[in-house]
Amino acid sequence: MAISLAIASRAFLGPRQPWFLIGLGSGISMLLTAIIMLWGSKVGKISLREGVLDRLSLRGDEVVLDIGCGRGLFLVGAARRLNTGRAFGIDLWKTEDQSGNSPQTTLENARAEEVASRVEIKTGDARQLPFETNTFDIIVSSWALHNIYHPEERAKALRQIARVLKPGGRLAIIDIRHTAEYVGVLRAAGIEEVRRTGPNFVFFIPSFILWGKKQPLPGP
Ligand SMILES: C[S@@+](CC[C@H](N)C(=O)[O-])C[C@H]1O[C@@H](n2cnc3c(N)ncnc32)[C@H](O)[C@@H]1O
Repeated sequence: MAISLAIASRAFLGPRQPWFLIGLGSGISMLLTAIIMLWGSKVGKISLREGVLDRLSLRGDEVVLDIGCGRGLFLVGAARRLNTGRAFGIDLWKTEDQSGNSPQTTLENARAEEVASRVEIKTGDARQLPFETNTFDIIVSSWALHNIYHPEERAKALRQIARVLKPGGRLAIIDIRHTAEYVGVLRAAGIEEVRRTGPNFVFFIPSFILWGKKQPLPGP
């Protein structure tokens, strides 16, 4: 659009007038932004997801939870690595956080990847997870928790994650903001070996990954 306006202004007003240069400059920057965003969603996110799942080295029999699963990026990716296991996704389906966000879209994505039989979707809030304590072997959450705006509310969600993770279970949380804050909250909630890696440039804003493991139960 901006490039077309620049070309039109050049045709009518001549090449050396500021509207041509302003239009061309903003057009090129919009085009670059669009290319980077498209690369991020089609290539960068998938490659980061596969790296995270490789590192979690799933056996195939785990019960996995994806918090704020949206259209199912990690949910479906994890389900593809399961055989007897099951992948649960929970979300509030906020369309301002992800376009086309709905349980139907996520189920369609799971069907398209032929993993729907291993996937279960729930509507719910990360701050009040509708699952029993010590339920999941693996918990993942990608670019979801920063959408909870108040620090104490984010801490509530992290404590819920620690609660529903099984002793010895592992987590990976990917986010663009507040990850340094997550470290302390997770440790205080009984998560061990908490590490923060990154930055990863999937978008313009760097993403960091938090890794951790829930304290195993004491041996006999
Ligand atoms: C940017 S999208 C990321 C979706 C997906 N994890 C991905 O990587 O493509 C953030 C998601 O978090 C969800 N979300 C935001 N606040 C939430 C909350 N308190 N509990 C559960 N889900 C939430 C939104 O509805 C949205 O689907």
